[in-house]
Amino acid sequence: MKTPVVLIPGDGIGPEVTEAMREVVEAAGGRIEWEEADAGLVAVEKHGGPLPEQTLERIRHRRVALKGPCATPIGKGFRSINVRLRKALDLYASVRPVVTLPAVDVPYDRVDLIVVRENTEGLYSGLEHEVVPGIVESLRIITKKAARRIVRFAFELARNQGRRQVTFCHKADVLRLSDGLFLSEARRVARNYPFLDFQEMNVDSLCMELALDPTRFDVLVMENLFGDVLSDLCAGLVGGLGLVPGANIGKKHAVFEAVHGTAPDIAGKGLANPMALIRSAAMMLAHIGQRQAGERIEASVRRTLQAGEDLTGDLGGTGTTATLTRQLIANLSSDN
Ligand code: NAI
Repeated sequence: MKTPVVLIPGDGIGPEVTEAMREVVEAAGGRIEWEEADAGLVAVEKHGGPLPEQTLERIRHRRVALKGPCATPIGKGFRSINVRLRKALDLYASVRPVVTLPAVDVPYDRVDLIVVRENTEGLYSGLEHEVVPGIVESLRIITKKAARRIVRFAFELARNQGRRQVTFCHKADVLRLSDGLFLSEARRVARNYPFLDFQEMNVDSLCMELALDPTRFDVLVMENLFGDVLSDLCAGLVGGLGLVPGANIGKKHAVFEAVHGTAPDIAGKGLANPMALIRSAAMMLAHIGQRQAGERIEASVRRTLQAGEDLTGDLGGTGTTATLTRQLIANLSSDN
């Protein structure tokens, strides 16, 4: 039986990497019934807005979606699609696994961490206004409920994946009330997990420590803005945006997505690296109980990088999306 999953190809390189992903998932034995839905510029043209209600309804119905990158038209009164999607479906946890991959030229070996980011509040609550001309205020919302559930999510993830440590990242010495509340909730949740090591770190110290030695970290958890910045920083530690997968998880729904954007500079040229979306699909397969197909894909990504043939330009090669996809399919094997 196939599992229905909503597929949003998105804009720019989105349709190219989506096509590659579908081929690899099928070749890996993933049993998926894709249901395409629109978001991004394509949806503005067809439906008058970048995130149509039909698309949200489809995801509410099917519960799981895989999303390509979407462009948010700037200066036309549209709010970020990603922010809206996360709020509308209450996808409160962003999960980004950051793992060193073979043969990718980076300064660190053996990085293996997960960034967990609170997705619905903080400075991304969308509450901004002009107080008087020339002075603008953005509200940073932190609630006990959201703080508690994201820290609990991080601890549960750590427990389920056999991890040893959770690091809570904050700036409570300056943001005394908002991060003060977040920190006290984090401490409260941590008391329920005495078998896991709990660490607290200021965001600035964490950045320095990540630059010095990212291998000492395990699960990182933080509020929205810090998480946005740090998850891209961590993607850079293992080779960049073309490689790193991501998921946005809520109580009822999950949307998996590559973390890169629409790459307008290479869109339509067949040069995009599809690995990030393909690895996001592997995470999705594990989420819906098709773990084996997901593991085959991850193993193929490693073999393909190791072999170094037909890699795309972002990885220093001269391959195309199509030739790299062929390599990924050829490197799938039934025994991992
Ligand atoms: P970007 O990620 O699209 O591009 C940054 C650089 O990385 C470019 O040089 C691009 O060619 C390269 N790159 C990105 N993905 C790649 C891939 N798979 N293979 C090879 N090279 C790749 O970020 P940028 O330029 O800031 O944003 C462009 C558009 O994407 C904007 O409209 C933005 O709103 C949107 N965006 C959407 C996201 C999403 O839907 N999740 C996330 C980030 C940006």
